[in-house]
Amino acid sequence: MPSTNPRPRLIGAVLAAALGPAALLLAPAHPASAATGRYEAESATLSSATTASNHAGFSGSGFVDYTNTTGGYVQWSVDAAAAGSATLTLRYANGTSADRSMDISVNGTVVAAARSFPGTGSWDTWATATLTVPLKAGANTVRATATTASGGPNTDYLEVTPQSGSGPGAMAAAPYEYLGWGSPQKPTDVMAATGAKWFTLAFILSDGSCNPKWDGSRALAGGTDEAAINSIRAAGGDVVVSVGGWSGNKLGEKCASATALAGAYQKVINAYHLKALDIDIEDTEFSNATVRQRVVDALKLVKSANPGIVTYVTMGTTPTGPDATGKDLIKRGAAAGLGNDGWVVMPFDFGGHSGSMGQASVGALEGLKAAVKSAYGYSDDAAYRHIGVSSMNGKTDEAGESVTTGDFRTILSYAQQHHIARYSFWSVNRDRACGSGTDADACSGVPQSPYEFTKIVVQYQG
Ligand code: GCU
Repeated sequence: MPSTNPRPRLIGAVLAAALGPAALLLAPAHPASAATGRYEAESATLSSATTASNHAGFSGSGFVDYTNTTGGYVQWSVDAAAAGSATLTLRYANGTSADRSMDISVNGTVVAAARSFPGTGSWDTWATATLTVPLKAGANTVRATATTASGGPNTDYLEVTPQSGSGPGAMAAAPYEYLGWGSPQKPTDVMAATGAKWFTLAFILSDGSCNPKWDGSRALAGGTDEAAINSIRAAGGDVVVSVGGWSGNKLGEKCASATALAGAYQKVINAYHLKALDIDIEDTEFSNATVRQRVVDALKLVKSANPGIVTYVTMGTTPTGPDATGKDLIKRGAAAGLGNDGWVVMPFDFGGHSGSMGQASVGALEGLKAAVKSAYGYSDDAAYRHIGVSSMNGKTDEAGESVTTGDFRTILSYAQQHHIARYSFWSVNRDRACGSGTDADACSGVPQSPYEFTKIVVQYQG
């Protein structure tokens, strides 16, 4: 049986108890292009520099301590799937008050001469420096060379985020479609009507064991889901595949170890040669700390086995940002050195909020940005580029709560201002007015023109 209610969270369980599953609606949460990911300094090529771990707060297994001499360097090898510009984020600590400037070069050319790395207050306090550089397709070298006799700052990692324009590009706008229920529209019809290029296809679940299937029952290969993906690609689009959701057996719980869970994710990636994977972590998969850690560790394995793959982690939220569980999840990601591309919240089913749902969504995103910034030690700009939103169009699971096209426009402005990683929503299936019935899986419950919500979201291009 397909799950009837894959998306609702928080009050979803309460509603289910009160009304029965048939009364429930639904809901979920997305981008990328070339090389994305984190490259630890301790794994790079070093000259007049050594690895160390004698100060707190580093990611991975340590950091690099330049010897106090001019000319020492850390050199990373960075793989890009396509030529284009990329944002480099370098994390460093400088416990002195003197600038530890370095030349940054890409493929042998200095792109930032004597770039400043000022004091961070202590050797345990890490900061990020960002710059935009051109990368070529394939292997690139990025070198940070000390330009003063004090050597470079202690260096934790280099993170690479490819750009298309100033953001992640068309992948950033990938609404959910659920082919398992809700009278799904033909994806290519949606593309023709709205200009959408990317979809997030929901949901991959456990088949009862540590094995992925669509909705827990339909095989990855040879069925309607694969045919839909092929049709989207033939029309010039692509898909993010989403694992999880509110209902059904979660892979994070059915797989006993991070390695086994990464293996299950890998089957999905291999089946469709995916560029992006979304883990929609809800209900018992979210609330159990052991499982949260397993998901983080599995994603880290997936990142290193699939260079350039984009990952999103999608979760519920309060109107002021992730709750304690959500913050814990983000902190676990940072502590594990997971270079996750988008921490994504679902700003609805709030159990009460003030102001418009657009304002409440912005409040939730600002809280998320603060949590990601603090866990990862990002700059404001880098933090925004690592968050995302997955809203819900029209009536949500919560009585009296409704997200309008005006609210979607408020979220669009915020996304464009801050270049967030992802703008998605639950769901395309619902992006039409209801007829005489009120099947919340297949319509929004608010007055609207066909695909009005999708047409707003696809304006976001990163
Ligand atoms: C201290 C500090 C090192 C740092 C060094 C430096 O020894 O503990 O981590 O690298 O100063 O001046 O570079």
